[in-house]
Amino acid sequence: MQFGSKMNKFFIEVNHFLYKHAVRRVFFLCNSELMHDWLTAGGELIGNIKILKNLLEKLLRYKNKALEQSLNGIFFENPVGLAAGFDYQARLTKITPSLGFGFETIGTITNKPYSGNPKPRLARLVKSRSLLVNKGFKNQGIDKILKKLKLSNFEIPVGISIGKTNTTKNTTQNEAVKDVVDAFKKAENSKIKFSYYELNISCPNLYGNISFYPSENLLKLLKAVTGLGLKKPVFVKMPIEKTDREILDMLKIISQFPINGVIFGNLQKNREDPSLDKEEVKMNKVGYFSGKPTEKRSNELIKLAYKRYGKKLIIIGCGGIFNGKDAYTKIRLGASLVQFITGLVFEGPQLAAQINLELSGLLKKDGFQNIKQAIGADNK
Ligand SMILES: Cc1cc2nc3c(=O)[nH]c(=O)nc-3n(C[C@H](O)[C@H](O)[C@H](O)COP(=O)(O)O)c2cc1C
Repeated sequence: MQFGSKMNKFFIEVNHFLYKHAVRRVFFLCNSELMHDWLTAGGELIGNIKILKNLLEKLLRYKNKALEQSLNGIFFENPVGLAAGFDYQARLTKITPSLGFGFETIGTITNKPYSGNPKPRLARLVKSRSLLVNKGFKNQGIDKILKKLKLSNFEIPVGISIGKTNTTKNTTQNEAVKDVVDAFKKAENSKIKFSYYELNISCPNLYGNISFYPSENLLKLLKAVTGLGLKKPVFVKMPIEKTDREILDMLKIISQFPINGVIFGNLQKNREDPSLDKEEVKMNKVGYFSGKPTEKRSNELIKLAYKRYGKKLIIIGCGGIFNGKDAYTKIRLGASLVQFITGLVFEGPQLAAQINLELSGLLKKDGFQNIKQAIGADNK
């Protein structure tokens, strides 16, 4: 069966309907962190059962020349990825291709393990179409993750997001740089067949006063990381709460290094963002927001970065993608690839396939033969 057949569309639509009107209701009654653990464990299990994995692949994996592109020597069969923060235990690399994802980022992983910030660490804000996140890089540490991935053969490009180890101990800026560099060294020397790195400088939930935003600090970090002579592309995960001027200053520095691109962006810190429901915000005190509250600023920054640095840096759009139209808006503003998490939680496991199908229709409608022609079309 060829993907794109009536059968696929029907399966996607039924899945979407059932998820939104039945499955999600049940899921949302359970504790969000526990639910996430169960679902990723289930995803890992299905990924290891060939017959189920292949069935899903037949129904959801998308192949269409219009969505294919190569970036930095990496082939992407479609531009739709799983963003950092969902698969921080590297459980889903076998199942994401079957669900229609074109790439996946594992992590964020840090040099040392961290058991997570005090609970609650995750909440659902249904009216705001957002998740409240306070994980602070909960992860098993890079040694354990690399060991787990040792013999993996990935079907789609898989990247590792690396950040600074979260700790309540006082750390100097130099120690923080060394910690990040140590994690990169381990990943680079591991011979694991992943395709790219994300350098996460924008997690808002960390202890201490370490910041990679001031020019001098960003310079030092990028000098140290790129000084390793990494063989794989590096994308920097950017904040969205900074002003245009501050972002342009950061991009100016980033563009001076062999950094391949930037991701816009991370969580929304502004509790006053108009897309947030005030009551939901009041009920959830600690953490920052994903989903729809990130969308507007993410789009503004994609536009800004593409205009000024579109020839030098690849832009990955992330924030508030819930359907093909949301993804297409980011692509037309200048994103070559897109990623999401919150859409998956609110719309269901068929979302990557659904977005690919919708994107194909939108490209065709606008007369584009390939996604490359649409990138930045609204931002020339
Ligand atoms: C539960 C959760 C955990 C996250 N953890 C990370 C992380 O570890 N590293 C990272 O770069 N971004 C992390 N993020 C941010 C997402 O990658 C993404 O930038 C943000 O959620 C906006 O995209 P979305 O609206 O599609 O969720 C996390 C987001 C969520 C919802």
